[in-house]
Amino acid sequence: MIASIPPVVPAGRMSQSEQPVFQLASGVRLRPWESQYAQVLVDSSRDPGIQHWNRPGLLSIDDAQARIARWRRRWEAEEAAVWAIQRVDDDHPVGLIGLGDMDFKGGSAEFLYWLLPAARGSGAMVDATIRVSRWALDVLGLHRLRITHSVANTASCRVATRAGFALEGTMRSALLHADGWHDEHLHARIQGDAWPDEEHTTTADLNVSNLRNRPAAT
Ligand SMILES: CC(C)(COP(=O)(O)OP(=O)(O)OC[C@H]1O[C@@H](n2cnc3c(N)ncnc32)[C@H](O)[C@@H]1OP(=O)(O)O)[C@@H](O)C(=O)NCCC(=O)NCCS
Repeated sequence: MIASIPPVVPAGRMSQSEQPVFQLASGVRLRPWESQYAQVLVDSSRDPGIQHWNRPGLLSIDDAQARIARWRRRWEAEEAAVWAIQRVDDDHPVGLIGLGDMDFKGGSAEFLYWLLPAARGSGAMVDATIRVSRWALDVLGLHRLRITHSVANTASCRVATRAGFALEGTMRSALLHADGWHDEHLHARIQGDAWPDEEHTTTADLNVSNLRNRPAAT
């Protein structure tokens, strides 16, 4: 008889927990999206960079509110974990970071992220990527995290590299953008990879104790 392979992450680790809030050394906070911030999603979908690289479509306020509600359901279904990025001194989100395509059985997930133009250039996305990776690997117990981006998106490539995601290869003609098919880089971080900067792990977190008290992943 062939022994079945247990899921890398047992079901329930996310659905039985509140989504954590993270405060980062770079002066930003990651927190769950709330419907009152729907206009930020509408605005983001009108930014040429976000529209080109993230391909959200042009969102109405109803679309944006539906999207925020869907993210909450996807947390509960353990399918996605999406945070708003806010400066600590301002309640208004300036970006988004999250994990989609979450696969507890196989132990993997894929990053998505963007910043509004005014928030770019501060290194906040590198910090946020490291912090969410720490949570996903060390607390949740996933094994492998991916970042994929068009080979033409230098800023995203730098974020992935600086966050310690090794470049594993180029996927040919992998994603259709408005100007045609783009080759994409595949970057990944797996359990045991070195962290680029320990400073990113020592910032204060706001309500992660409920997850921290859970047994380690097997
Ligand atoms: C990708 C993104 C989140 C990066 O955030 P950012 O704040 O701009 O990144 P940083 O300022 O920390 O810059 C990261 C690096 O990219 C470089 N860079 C930034 N914009 C660049 C550009 N347009 N062209 C070339 N290099 C660029 C920076 O010089 C920096 O290089 P360094 O690491 O050598 O210092 C942000 O640019 C963004 O949201 N872009 C639009 C949407 C998008 O691309 N989403 C990702 C889809 S995969």
